[in-house]
Amino acid sequence: MAEIFPVSDEMQKNANINKADYEDLYEKSIKHPEEFWRRQAKRIDWVSFPKKIKDTRFKKDEYVIKWYEDGILNASYNCIDRHLPERANQTAFIFEPDDPKSESKHITYGELKDEVCRLANALKKQGVKKGDCVTIYMPMIPEAAYAMLACARIGAIHSVVFGGFSPNALKDRIVDCESKFVITADEGRRGGKTVPLKANVDKAVDGLDIVQKVIVFKNTGGDVEWHDGRDISWGETVLLQSNECKPEPMSAEDPLFILYTSGSTGKPKGILHTTGGYMVYASLTHELSFDYKDGEVYWCTADVGWITGHSYIVYGPLANAATSLIFEGVPSYPDYGRFWEITEKHQVNIFYTAPTAIRALLKEGDDYVTKHDRSSLRILGTVGEPINHEAWLWYYNVVGEKRCPIVDTWWQTETGGHMITPLPGVTDLKPGSAAMPFLGIKVEIVDHEGNVLEGECEGNLCIAYSWPGQMRSIYGDHDRYLETYFSQFDGKYFTGDGAKRDKDGYIWITGRVDDVINVSGHRFGTAEIETSINEHDAVAESAVVGYPHDIKGQGIYAYIIAKEGKVIDDVIKKEIVQFVRSDIGPIATIDIIQAASGLPKTRSGKIMRRILRKIAADDVDNLGDTSTLAEPAVVDELIANHKKITGDK
Ligand code: PRX
Repeated sequence: MAEIFPVSDEMQKNANINKADYEDLYEKSIKHPEEFWRRQAKRIDWVSFPKKIKDTRFKKDEYVIKWYEDGILNASYNCIDRHLPERANQTAFIFEPDDPKSESKHITYGELKDEVCRLANALKKQGVKKGDCVTIYMPMIPEAAYAMLACARIGAIHSVVFGGFSPNALKDRIVDCESKFVITADEGRRGGKTVPLKANVDKAVDGLDIVQKVIVFKNTGGDVEWHDGRDISWGETVLLQSNECKPEPMSAEDPLFILYTSGSTGKPKGILHTTGGYMVYASLTHELSFDYKDGEVYWCTADVGWITGHSYIVYGPLANAATSLIFEGVPSYPDYGRFWEITEKHQVNIFYTAPTAIRALLKEGDDYVTKHDRSSLRILGTVGEPINHEAWLWYYNVVGEKRCPIVDTWWQTETGGHMITPLPGVTDLKPGSAAMPFLGIKVEIVDHEGNVLEGECEGNLCIAYSWPGQMRSIYGDHDRYLETYFSQFDGKYFTGDGAKRDKDGYIWITGRVDDVINVSGHRFGTAEIETSINEHDAVAESAVVGYPHDIKGQGIYAYIIAKEGKVIDDVIKKEIVQFVRSDIGPIATIDIIQAASGLPKTRSGKIMRRILRKIAADDVDNLGDTSTLAEPAVVDELIANHKKITGDK
């Protein structure tokens, strides 16, 4: 799209970065990274300020990434204690419950310190030590953030698992990082329904010797089973603890957290982030991408189970002493105006959500938006997937009343923070483009051979130099880390995304180029879903691809071949959908199943997914070269089946 929405004079005048200085600042950040990142390190408090700023090389055989390596700090101290002298009474978190009739809460920085210290002391008492992994499986309530910060305070590594994951998925994640401790709640609430978190934990840890203690927060008061000796009541234990707990001094490169995400192959991988660089990067990006101003109410609608919740509900905003809103519910409950009702109620200034939510709300019409006053809004943001033109314009015109810049932030669990984004007051906007690299980020678009493309181009999105918020490893599998991110294009970090650059230098993300699909901003490896489908006893083989979906961005399309003597009829299809939902979690809901008799394979037996993607996307006039297929006739059958299923649209 050629249209441009220029930065307003008003925005430019008041922005945290001066437009006139920006190019120079970017140039310096790339040419003199030591100096730039040394200066940025000062935005957080260190027990011992680092002398060594960076030691980074992306080359596979000499790979090293260390930021601020001799610095000592504590993340929880940076999010809480350092603000106390001036801001003990300022609200750190606003909690808005699922049910609008229940009361919202304001938690001050002073109260946050007490809550986090008590829990940290309780964890210590239960035997949690520096370097231990603690799995957090919580609803969207402030206690989830307390749990993260309590771990950070005592040097434990948290692994937050999204509360929508199944017991199986939770179990895999507990086992992978050998968590001896789990923190959960009796139940969560979402859209008027309850989520059986404790019951899920019980199933996940059943027979797992490694889990010693499960700390349970009483949230709904619903009935739960109790395992004496293993289960610990938060209410009875935590509240008895002292509200003072000395923050553990941590090396900058000590792990802060692990967060599982899907890759193109194998099981979800534990993305490992460390302390110093991550904190600097989360804080800097939060301030500049959102042009955050002291005293503003900032709301990110993500779940803390995702990286967006880590960096932009907890660590970034709290490092900047912001007021961060935590919402327990969903955008459609009790009606489609809930986001805007909350915006009005809490006078939200900065609002950050996912395109999938915008598309779902757009469909319901403007009245749900316009009946609420949104004059407090100043900045709008999106994250997680490309935003289509119609959704962007609606967000800009209707939600933001043509007043609020939209920051379309491109980044990943692996990157820790924003990597490509417009900056309010600096960047003119193009709907659907994530615009320009963030300060210190050198984007390179390369062809399949790894040649760097200049000017207007399309190719694979890579990052040329390290940045402090970058992941450091895949927990327990450093070789897989090097292989996944640094082996395709030597000397560069490969993102797995494709991108275009236009003549003005704007970056347009075109989506994943690997076997990862993005459903409503949630990432799945196609292999992960296939493994689950294949466990159903009617299934011989399956292949999963993403296809364009109006609301979800991508939907899940599964081609399934029945075992000898079985048929994939409508009953079995329903069963398979249910099976995968309970195996992975309800977010992994297959949209379309095609019962197939064969898959397009090369003579060496490799599935040609390109063809499956094209069929699922109704793009069959353009199948490309099919001459290497072992049985080309299979393609015609798949196309015919597809037309039958989708009504030959
Ligand atoms: O494909 C890109 C897409 O989401 C992927 C990262 O997913 P995840 O690690 O779950 O993190 C999501 C939240 C940071 C990317 O590889 N993606 C993320 N943001 C955008 C995006 N695609 C287009 N535009 C974005 N703004």
